[in-house]
Amino acid sequence: MSDWTRKLFVERSDLFLKLMNQRWIGTDELVNGMVKVLNSFGIVSGKLLDLCCGNGRISVHMAKRGFDSIGVDISKSFIEDARARAREYNVSDQVTFREGDVRNLKTVLGDISELFDVVVSVWTSIGYYSKDDDLSVFQQARELSREGAVLCVAETTHSDFISLKFCPTAYSEADDIFVLENRKYDQATSHMSSSWAFYSRRGEDLIFIDRMQIEHHIYSLSELASILGRAGWTVVAFYGSLSTLQPMSPLTSLNIIARAQ
Ligand SMILES: C[S@@+](CC[C@H](N)C(=O)[O-])C[C@H]1O[C@@H](n2cnc3c(N)ncnc32)[C@H](O)[C@@H]1O
Repeated sequence: MSDWTRKLFVERSDLFLKLMNQRWIGTDELVNGMVKVLNSFGIVSGKLLDLCCGNGRISVHMAKRGFDSIGVDISKSFIEDARARAREYNVSDQVTFREGDVRNLKTVLGDISELFDVVVSVWTSIGYYSKDDDLSVFQQARELSREGAVLCVAETTHSDFISLKFCPTAYSEADDIFVLENRKYDQATSHMSSSWAFYSRRGEDLIFIDRMQIEHHIYSLSELASILGRAGWTVVAFYGSLSTLQPMSPLTSLNIIARAQ
């Protein structure tokens, strides 16, 4: 694990969890779109692998729609929270969560013999390590999937968007925390380097909690399509949003649909 992923997702998972919880709002719509796309390929149920599942919003909502989901995430506390969410949504029988590194996917899922029908990677869960690591994760996911399986890489930031809408500063609020971001983007390498400062609110004051440095690669559609192709996934469609199935543009997020062919 890189230093920043360890700090953000493991050591200070308490802070990121608050941001992640906000994403549960709107997940129903996202999953509705995902199901429509899967249905168009004749997939109405089956085994789903959720890469970097966080606290399980996609796995849980897909289990609600009849898929047997397995979510893998590096963060023990996200996995524990995901299991609690599965109980809350009454889908504990249809969903399993595993703590593990997706870069060792075949080892993490070594005891599973049935092949996956669907693989998902949602909310910019790529670009954290090297491009070879991302290639390897998608290759391993392909080896664990049946011929004709569908891969959705959804709600992902892409380089056209950043080139057009780059904001050097941003802030967000979640629950009782406030996050200030200072970003630097290198267009030549598509490398994003951001400093995130976390504060808690006390009345009118913001009390500093912690600061984290986030380093990641922002893919373009063509670069990601090429990596997926090398990993054995053929891109068959892309959208600006899975919730609305609107076309992709430089102003939307990246949602790629690929097939194991
Ligand atoms: C932006 S969050 C997305 C979470 C989830 N996909 C969602 O849409 O809510 C990125 C996730 O990747 C996980 N992650 C980062 N590196 C990982 C790795 N090497 N193996 C497994 N999970 C990892 C983090 O713990 C975090 O939950």
